[in-house]
Amino acid sequence: MAGGSAEAGIAVQPADIREVVVVGLGTMGAGIAEILARSGRSVVVVEANGNALARGLATLHASLDKAVARGRLTHADKARIIARIRAADSLAGGAAAADLVIEAVAESAELKRAVFAELDLACRPGTILATNTSSLSVTALAAGTRHPDRVAGLHFFNPAPVMKLVEVVSTVLTAPGTTETLAGLVRALGKTPVQVGDRAGFVVNPLLLAYLNHAVRLLDAGYATGGDIDKAATSGVGLPMGPLALLDLIGLDTSLSILEALKAEFGGSRFTPAPLLRRLAEAGLTGRKAGRGFYEYQHQSVHAARADDPVDHLASQPPSLVLLIEDGPADLTSAITAAGIGVVRPPAAEADLILVAASPARSVLDAALACPSPADAVGIHLVGPHGARPALAELVITHLTKASAVAAAVALAAKLGLDSVTTRDRPGFLTAAMTYPHLNDAAAMVQDGYASAADIDTAMMLGCGYPRGPLEMLDDIGPAVVAGVLSAMHASCGDPAFVPAPLLVEHAAAGTRFR
Ligand code: 3HC
Repeated sequence: MAGGSAEAGIAVQPADIREVVVVGLGTMGAGIAEILARSGRSVVVVEANGNALARGLATLHASLDKAVARGRLTHADKARIIARIRAADSLAGGAAAADLVIEAVAESAELKRAVFAELDLACRPGTILATNTSSLSVTALAAGTRHPDRVAGLHFFNPAPVMKLVEVVSTVLTAPGTTETLAGLVRALGKTPVQVGDRAGFVVNPLLLAYLNHAVRLLDAGYATGGDIDKAATSGVGLPMGPLALLDLIGLDTSLSILEALKAEFGGSRFTPAPLLRRLAEAGLTGRKAGRGFYEYQHQSVHAARADDPVDHLASQPPSLVLLIEDGPADLTSAITAAGIGVVRPPAAEADLILVAASPARSVLDAALACPSPADAVGIHLVGPHGARPALAELVITHLTKASAVAAAVALAAKLGLDSVTTRDRPGFLTAAMTYPHLNDAAAMVQDGYASAADIDTAMMLGCGYPRGPLEMLDDIGPAVVAGVLSAMHASCGDPAFVPAPLLVEHAAAGTRFR
């Protein structure tokens, strides 16, 4: 560590971290190596498996080529970055001169322990050892080394060159200087550190993986098609990717092992892997890297959703006359009439389509049963990111609804310029059923004192590209509204995971906000 201090308690300046070893050249290792080499540092990538090394280097080249194609780098920049990276097939070949080692091998406690045991022998005493583990105990890895004060977590997000967050994880054994050095390095790499204690998954993964896992359950339970689940997240909430597409990006095998680690630490149904997720992973359909997960990938583009949407095949004309029953907050009349479609109200009985303007805390079936022909009734609930015009119509079908009524409702939504998803008549419909438990988990994390509302929001925005953090979303929707839907979900299925967190209930009762 040229010019750096070997004293455990004293932070080393980021500029003094010049030689970095990255162990494991999977997707994350390749991304981390790229970021470090871009910052001017020398990087040794250690990968024992020749095929994995070739794949990792190809990922690295592809990422740099993308930046060149977008005019972010020149060909000469790329050549300089590549020249800073050297491959080695063993730690003995690279670790001795390292100022910092970042371990990014597969998410296996046994494998990581073995790497740390080797690093302990191969590195100088002053070398900082960091793990990119997403959910395993950093403390256990540190405790097995001779200098646990220099061991910490450095958790990057996929795609590492793009996502701005790095969780810097300190154990009870980590020296403050080590944490400070790593946080400084993260800033020097143009990213934002969030400093956290050592708990499985840190801030982001317990929140993210529980939400992704729940989305798979909704798919498996026939709430909606895969395409509609993802559309609800992007169009309805404004997230950059839907949960199934994101699982494909993270990797279903990786997601499964993170869930298992979270389940082992925290218990509870939110972390119990959805059977469909486990089966797809077992089948080797691990997502983008396998060419198939929830979606098929051909030449990097999404080919087809796993679950076909039968409504897509039922091309229909929009109705000319709608019987509108308001059982929820939305006033749709002006939007429908502006599209040139007639609207009548009860007690009128003649219409091409019966629409129930619905509320996610109430069943559409009750309103449908009061209609002249319940099979022609479709619930409609408009959603969109806060402050924006609703972009998505949730079309809620009861077990009585006819396919022709659904097709007419889809055509109506298209005529109104809205995306639409078809979903079942369950509390929360689709968007709220998928996301309110996620917001509740974030409220519970604040309540537990693990991270502040501001840090959680920052972490989800910078780590997962959320337009706003979950607690800001919760505040905007209203704690009372979120708690009401969660209670209805709990009443309908009995899963204690949906019981509103006590802190959420308190904010709902007092009319106060998290942020
Ligand atoms: N590698 C390198 N660069 C990439 C890339 C990749 N795999 N994918 C995209 N990029 C770059 C593009 O080159 C582009 O760069 P530019 O702005 O400099 O031109 C930029 O990212 C935006 O790319 P696109 O316009 O092609 O694509 P999008 O606008 O659709 O953004 C996305 C893609 C950044 C992946 C966005 O969809 C997103 O933020 N998704 C959420 C990802 C997420 O949640 N990650 C965290 C997962 S959890 C995790 O990793 C923790 C682990 O422990 C499981």
